[in-house]
Amino acid sequence: MCVLILVWKVVIRCKPDMKGTVRYLAGIAGQSGYGSKSTAEQVTEHCSSLPPNLTAIVTGATSGIGAETARVLAKRGVRIVIPARDLRKAAQVKENIQKEHPKAEIIILEIDLSSFASIKKFCSEFLFLGLPLNILINNAGKFSQKLEFSEDKFEMTFATNYLGHFLLTELLLEKMIETATQTGVQGRIVNVSSVIHGWVNKDHFSFNRMLQPKYYNATRAYAQSKLANIMHANEIARQIKERNANVTINAVHPGIVKTGIIRDHKGVITDSLFFVASKLLKSTSQGASTTCYVALNSKTEGMSGRYFVDCNESRCSTLANDDSEAHKLWKQTRALIHKRLRAN
Ligand SMILES: NC(=O)c1ccc[n+]([C@@H]2O[C@H](COP(=O)([O-])OP(=O)(O)OC[C@H]3O[C@@H](n4cnc5c(N)ncnc54)[C@H](OP(=O)(O)O)[C@@H]3O)[C@@H](O)[C@H]2O)c1
Repeated sequence: MCVLILVWKVVIRCKPDMKGTVRYLAGIAGQSGYGSKSTAEQVTEHCSSLPPNLTAIVTGATSGIGAETARVLAKRGVRIVIPARDLRKAAQVKENIQKEHPKAEIIILEIDLSSFASIKKFCSEFLFLGLPLNILINNAGKFSQKLEFSEDKFEMTFATNYLGHFLLTELLLEKMIETATQTGVQGRIVNVSSVIHGWVNKDHFSFNRMLQPKYYNATRAYAQSKLANIMHANEIARQIKERNANVTINAVHPGIVKTGIIRDHKGVITDSLFFVASKLLKSTSQGASTTCYVALNSKTEGMSGRYFVDCNESRCSTLANDDSEAHKLWKQTRALIHKRLRAN
């Protein structure tokens, strides 16, 4: 029963009012022409005349929402780079996509997003290929049930979801700006966040405590990392705008989808309860739609520093919208990562 309440709370809490709830449940389209029931294929249907030679990096593409995002982008002719820690799983995803689209170009490179050294190695290997980079989807996600620490000695959920994607974006941003300048095609970065970011208040958003918490709460750690994903997008959007560069960055909530991130929670979330709750959940293809909409659809061209839910712009929490907090977080994160990289 508590699962139903949890799923209901997560699904409904992203809807500000009764109208929003009805819209979600009925799949009524918003301003964009799409809604909660739109699939990734539907929101990219018109994208058959995309510029040639588009390249996208999709993290976390070995399962769930990321795998579907990679499949649909590949279907639209985008070259896909899959950074993966499990190369066998990545090879299986590649095989599945190429079975459906034999011409799809898929490149697999190793990465562990919880390790700064691994991210640096991935970026060097990718940049060495000399490919353009138009789209970066920061999608990989971890929900660590127990307190675990990364190789760099930071709490694992925060390290994977936020610190890892922060460094990845930093190391690839110049390439994206260069590609956009050379091709005239706008670069797009998508940070996959979650509506759960709204559960975090300022008292629970202390940088040092998120890195090394004294009292660990798995849901809180996950929510903090997802809040940081939005603040990261907002701050980088501001910096890119200041540079007048042709790259956008936005954050999305994909919806609640029964993927690996939820399936891991056996014992608490049982299959039978999920069956009942499934009416409130999205399919994986519906879960990948907001990411694909923001990454590819012409309607989101030029939009940056925004937050999207169900393929429409939406409101995020007050803290997520706080520019000075976002800047402070960016400064602290950058200093931390660079100090750690220098030490290694
Ligand atoms: N599902 C939902 O209801 C929901 C709701 C809101 C937001 N989200 C967000 O959506 C995104 C995708 O999640 P999902 O639901 O599709 O979950 P998923 O099926 O569990 O996929 C997570 C992906 O992240 C990868 N990953 C995890 N740790 C990694 C690491 N250290 N290095 C490299 N890759 C790593 C996983 O790789 P492996 O295959 O190696 O494990 C997997 O490919 C996440 O950011 C999640 O927070 C999901």
